[in-house]
Amino acid sequence: MSKEGRFKGRSALITGAAQGIGRAIALKMGREGASLALLDIDGEKVKELATQLEKEGIPASAFKVDVGNEKDVDYAVKETVTRFKKLDILVNNAGLVRPSAFEGVSIDDWDAVIKVNLKGSFFCTRHALPHMKKNHYGKIVNIGSRASLGKADRTVYSTTKAGIIGFTRTLALELAPHNINVNNVAPGPIATELFTAANPAGSPKTEAILRSIPLRRMGQPEDVANAVAFLASDEAGFITGQTLFICGGLTVGSVYF
Ligand SMILES: NC(=O)c1ccc[n+]([C@@H]2O[C@H](COP(=O)([O-])OP(=O)(O)OC[C@H]3O[C@@H](n4cnc5c(N)ncnc54)[C@H](O)[C@@H]3O)[C@@H](O)[C@H]2O)c1
Repeated sequence: MSKEGRFKGRSALITGAAQGIGRAIALKMGREGASLALLDIDGEKVKELATQLEKEGIPASAFKVDVGNEKDVDYAVKETVTRFKKLDILVNNAGLVRPSAFEGVSIDDWDAVIKVNLKGSFFCTRHALPHMKKNHYGKIVNIGSRASLGKADRTVYSTTKAGIIGFTRTLALELAPHNINVNNVAPGPIATELFTAANPAGSPKTEAILRSIPLRRMGQPEDVANAVAFLASDEAGFITGQTLFICGGLTVGSVYF
């Protein structure tokens, strides 16, 4: 039995759910009534989260899935629909970054980041879609990045996240007749392993990032989860094709000049 809340009776599939932003989205939506399919390449960690949620009374299935592998994705979607009877919400959150100046970008870096950030979103959407169309209802929330506007030493990452904007806008138009909303949540600096691995605490660059955020703090995974939950809810029924930056004001302009 799912909990009361704005997602009561809804089933949601969240990728990259084992930690960071994906985990925060799972906790938020599960505690507001959603039944959850949690996908992650880290099978142990995502299983621990599903077990914790089930103990709270939230129906949650964990799947060890590489979103860049279509067979894995197909299996997880089918199992989800078998258990929850439908799929209403997809959050394409799994993401990979390989920081490097452009000239140091290897073909392996290029392929690996594109495989997770773009191909993964393509596969998950492709397999979720028939179930949404069938019920004439769906909410797809992609996780982009402020880096889609440009970021030094992130050529591949920025390219994929800019691609997510086109993916979101085009799908929004194609899927609107099916009552499926597609939006993009684009975080700025959020305190997760992905950020701290690339920006060690206390380094001059990290300090500079902190000073440049107009709201003068790092974002937290919950800041992103709140926006995702809104766009995945019926409150956002007339919003589609949009990119919402969750970045403490970073995209607005510069504080210093
Ligand atoms: N943290 C930030 O500052 C920030 C900023 C902008 C955008 N984002 C985006 O937010 C999303 C979540 O990032 P995060 O900060 O929580 O990162 P994270 O590294 O903490 O978590 C990412 C999760 O995705 C999983 N994952 C990686 N590759 C996968 C694959 N092939 N298949 C399935 N799962 C896979 C990881 O195991 C991990 O659990 C990503 O799309 C990222 O690009 C993060």
